[in-house]
Amino acid sequence: MTKMNGYVITGASRGIGEALARKVMETDGSLAHVVCVSRTASGRLEEAAAAAGARLKTFQCDIGRYEELDEWARRILAEFDPERLQSLYWVNNAGVLEPMGPIEQADPAALAEHLHINLLAPMILSGAFIRHTVEWTQVRKRLVHISSGAGKKPYYGWGAYCASKAGVDMLSRCIGVEQGTDDSAVKTVSIAPGVVDTAMQEQIRGTNEEMFRDVGRFIELKNSGALFAPEEAAARIAQVLREDRYAQGDVIDIRTYS
Ligand SMILES: NC(=O)c1ccc[n+]([C@@H]2O[C@H](COP(=O)([O-])OP(=O)(O)OC[C@H]3O[C@@H](n4cnc5c(N)ncnc54)[C@H](OP(=O)(O)O)[C@@H]3O)[C@@H](O)[C@H]2O)c1
Repeated sequence: MTKMNGYVITGASRGIGEALARKVMETDGSLAHVVCVSRTASGRLEEAAAAAGARLKTFQCDIGRYEELDEWARRILAEFDPERLQSLYWVNNAGVLEPMGPIEQADPAALAEHLHINLLAPMILSGAFIRHTVEWTQVRKRLVHISSGAGKKPYYGWGAYCASKAGVDMLSRCIGVEQGTDDSAVKTVSIAPGVVDTAMQEQIRGTNEEMFRDVGRFIELKNSGALFAPEEAAARIAQVLREDRYAQGDVIDIRTYS
């Protein structure tokens, strides 16, 4: 029996997550089993799954509601039969940018929501993935975080975003240490996808300079055609996953990874 490749992708209703879901279905065809997690569903993914002969299911879940996440993870993983899986990739991709602006102007509730989505959810979902698949020793298990260059470099007005992405990078490194390098370990990586032409970039360009001082640079990147298309970023991420050359717990940037 030819075994399947399973993928759980959060934030796959648009942008990088949607492009990655389409890419893996295109590549793996009928061997792809993809589960998408977001608050809204993408009609384009249904079409892509039908064209590729892939299995697709979408769970409409708000990952900001942290109390429910362990149960969501259990239900999502119940979609897969470990006997039929060669690999299972869990991709924590969903993320938000707001609130932007100097930290003294940030609303505490908005900060809490940001951290719930960008940092707490990846922590809880990573833990649930590791815990609920502990007996799936024959499956190659991979845990992927979509991080950002902003996790390494400070930007005026992005205190929440830079901090949550730095947190995700460190989460990945800690999980790497905890999991070690046994064959049955969950291997993890944190990937910065470059500057990608998605709704998030539109939101950045729509900010004013008082809230985000570098807005002009991002407008210039768009105008000069320097942004990656979501399909290009997704193809590079899929290549990193396929090659599987990164070390346990690595933090990489697809712009410099070779
Ligand atoms: N675009 C870039 O230049 C860039 C650069 C570096 C890093 N990144 C990172 O790449 C990832 C994807 O970004 P993107 O540019 O593709 O953003 P995007 O187009 O805004 O898409 C964000 C995705 O996250 C989902 N999401 C947001 N809040 C959610 C919630 N509470 N529960 C469930 N899903 C939620 C959205 O789905 P729903 O709204 O349907 O829930 C959507 O599918 C993010 O982690 C981002 O930080 C992006």
